[in-house]
Amino acid sequence: MKTVMQPEEFRLIREFVAEETGLLIDEGRLGYLSSRLQSRLDELRLNSYRDYYAFLKFSPRGESEFQELASILTNNETYFFREDAQLQILTSHILPHLKEKEQGNGRRKIRIYSAGCSSGEEVYTIAMMLLESGHFLWDWDIKVTGIDIDPKMITHARKGIYSGRAFQSTPPLFLERYFTKAGEDYQVKDSLRRITCFEEGNLLRLESFRHNDPAHVIFCRNVFIYFSEDTTRKITESFAELLEPEGHLFLGHSESLSRISSRYQPIRHPGAIIYRKRD
Ligand SMILES: C[S@@+](CC[C@H](N)C(=O)[O-])C[C@H]1O[C@@H](n2cnc3c(N)ncnc32)[C@H](O)[C@@H]1O
Repeated sequence: MKTVMQPEEFRLIREFVAEETGLLIDEGRLGYLSSRLQSRLDELRLNSYRDYYAFLKFSPRGESEFQELASILTNNETYFFREDAQLQILTSHILPHLKEKEQGNGRRKIRIYSAGCSSGEEVYTIAMMLLESGHFLWDWDIKVTGIDIDPKMITHARKGIYSGRAFQSTPPLFLERYFTKAGEDYQVKDSLRRITCFEEGNLLRLESFRHNDPAHVIFCRNVFIYFSEDTTRKITESFAELLEPEGHLFLGHSESLSRISSRYQPIRHPGAIIYRKRD
């Protein structure tokens, strides 16, 4: 039976979601939120959205329910080779520069993050760009790490099996070189698996990632469109802690840091703006 969501329940859950995930649900979207969460009430046998809110906050099972909530509310749209102009900048400007810089420092290590990686297509795309560049052969230690709040997406990414729309922008050469056919689908080859990994994580709680090697580049594309400016500022501040000096940040083409953060210098390229961390 359909449960009616009261305005006060909407406010509580909306604020909880914004605080815990960053996702901003518009004021007028009570109907959207209640229809999204009805199945959770049914499954947990709860009578009201207030009970659901209390379950999230106080039940010992609240943490795993939070993952269900994140899965339900996030938009996971993604595909291989999304926003080609940015990928070209990675290949033509950033990677050659990184190689030179690392060698100049007597190191041969590259670390790239995809923050909000969804089902992994962005991670594997960056991995293909790294391998195709030919800059990091032999004894280079390279790793692309995907992070997402949605555990279902991380499971999908780790499996590395894709079909249909995921390949809408994939040049046939890459499909041939980096995937094997698995029935109707395609599976990523070991050459990609070796240099990629996936972690479940919340961009609002990045402190736990500080133990990792500093990042040379962070991709965080098509994530901030769902966040408030304050949340975006907070996350870009923590990215600055994870990035190497002069590390680069890629955002989605409709996202910008103007009036949000002065920690980054915008660098204009044809078709895209890339952000470089200021010293
Ligand atoms: C639209 S997808 C973008 C995927 C990829 N970056 C791209 O551009 O194709 C947005 C992803 O951000 C993730 N996300 C949203 N809020 C998050 C948070 N607080 N922490 C980590 N990931 C989050 C969602 O689960 C979703 O998979």
